Amino acid sequence: MEIYLVEIFDYDLVIVGSGLAGLRAAIEAARTGNGKLRIAIIAKNQLMRPHSISAEGGSAAVLYTEEGDSFDLHAYDTIKGSDYLGDQDVVEFFVRQCPVDVLELEHWGIPWARREDGRIAQRPFGGHSYPRATFASDRTGFYEVHTLYDTLLKYGNVDKYHEQFVYDFIIENNRFKGVMALDIPTGQIRIFKARAGIIATGGLGRLYGYTTYSHLVTGDGLAIALRRGMRLKDIEFIQFHPTGLVPSGILITEGVRGDGGILRNAKGERFMEKYAPTKKDLAPRDIVSRSMMTEILEGRGFKGPNGLDYLLLDFSPIGAEKIKEKLSQVREIGMHYVGIDPLESPLPVRPAAHYTMGGIDVTRTGFTGITGLWAAGEAACYSVHGANRLGANSTSECIVFGKIAGGESAKWLLKDNGMITLSEGEMSSAEDFISDAYKDKGDNDPYEIKRELWSTMDKYAYVFRNEKDLTEGLKVIRGLIERSGKISISEKGNVYNQNLISTLEMKNLVELAEVVVFSALQRKESRGSHFRTDYPKRDDENFLKHTIIQRVDGAPQITYRPVTLTKWKPEPRVY
Ligand code: FUM
Repeated sequence: MEIYLVEIFDYDLVIVGSGLAGLRAAIEAARTGNGKLRIAIIAKNQLMRPHSISAEGGSAAVLYTEEGDSFDLHAYDTIKGSDYLGDQDVVEFFVRQCPVDVLELEHWGIPWARREDGRIAQRPFGGHSYPRATFASDRTGFYEVHTLYDTLLKYGNVDKYHEQFVYDFIIENNRFKGVMALDIPTGQIRIFKARAGIIATGGLGRLYGYTTYSHLVTGDGLAIALRRGMRLKDIEFIQFHPTGLVPSGILITEGVRGDGGILRNAKGERFMEKYAPTKKDLAPRDIVSRSMMTEILEGRGFKGPNGLDYLLLDFSPIGAEKIKEKLSQVREIGMHYVGIDPLESPLPVRPAAHYTMGGIDVTRTGFTGITGLWAAGEAACYSVHGANRLGANSTSECIVFGKIAGGESAKWLLKDNGMITLSEGEMSSAEDFISDAYKDKGDNDPYEIKRELWSTMDKYAYVFRNEKDLTEGLKVIRGLIERSGKISISEKGNVYNQNLISTLEMKNLVELAEVVVFSALQRKESRGSHFRTDYPKRDDENFLKHTIIQRVDGAPQITYRPVTLTKWKPEPRVY
């Protein structure tokens, strides 16, 4: 048996996750704390390499009201895009805050693209009725992360921890007390004791095999929250981005279609004219993805490897100059990953799992209901995106709500909300968890379980769903959960034990898959990204409500909560 040392750190605030939301929260907490708070930001990867750097196309914000954009228009687009499952009060708040925070990034040095007149440029994006995606080439997330990281360096009281796998939150009597983590380079156990915490661990996209998400995104924060009795909201709504590059799934930004690119089927037809006569290729993602799958299922796609039949994304209407200037990264991706230069030929694409609309059930300030604990970014569900997020609203969400969670937690801490003491039991349970994970419990292969999970989700809980598939999927997933408890970690060393980390991630994923599919089974209607072929209509009478799921005595339990409507009545979504 290995010896694990437990190192204990003591902070006021611990932020788990260093993507856009985590970084923005750290800056705001440090700024609000004004040197009085000790803050830690913890990343599973290197701090500057979160999944947020993969965001390409832009951040939505109303910048030019004098030219025709407005808060009401952005709010309406977002609410209609959400298939009316967005809480309208939160959406109205969000759209007003976006320009403030996008301009703040400008002041911190982000190289936003420029128009001829020198003002900030914006590009059209799906479902938006005004070009409001503020962008930095097709590397928006990369520049945003770097700008935030550089800004964070101004604050001396923020300690940065790289390569930490957080495996539990310490909560006693509904009070947050810290997190337990494995220091990946050494295998040492660390307890980050803290008076407050922010979960900014992102979504759960690696439930799927064919996805734009990096392998980092294994829903760790959501899985721990669920285990700790917290509620997840609207978790059945997974976004499938229309243009994942076949076969890898790497994101080809919607900016391509924003700048004029066109989707074509195997007959060369611009098929989106048929499904969304006004918006065409720039309809919201749920509609474009469904249209693409309809084309493929009706035989107008191309045969792809491993069942990944595909359509084509034609860059030719954009023009070479604009591609080189605004879409240089996706051009490079095409050349490197499939040997195709989009200047010469279209790229093979199909819908890929891309975003988690649901998340930890929080208030508008990100409060989780656990004293001292907030959530921010994709890990949280504020109900801005409802059943389908509009492109470019996610990076904006991270900076808007990351800032709020950071500010709120800091203000709360400055009111001196008590000391934290850890019991012997809490400290030893940190070690017990890891030593238990190392124990030989059976001969199931964790990697095989993960592969089976991917093929199950890709097959049974993709763009089109139905009772039979979801029931079958749930059965398989429950079998995988059972098997995930009967494995042996073959690598026993402490240093960079990827075998251990992958196994813990896999356990998080299978548990989350159960609640995604369970919630999807109960929602007997079609709304946004959740399309049931057996219930093809939206059913406002019975399902204009949020799904709230919790684990009670180990089993998922669902309740529902009404959607907040302000001035927009649900209407048919025609584009
Ligand atoms: O297509 C994209 O660039 C993705 C943007 C987003 O998910 O908001």
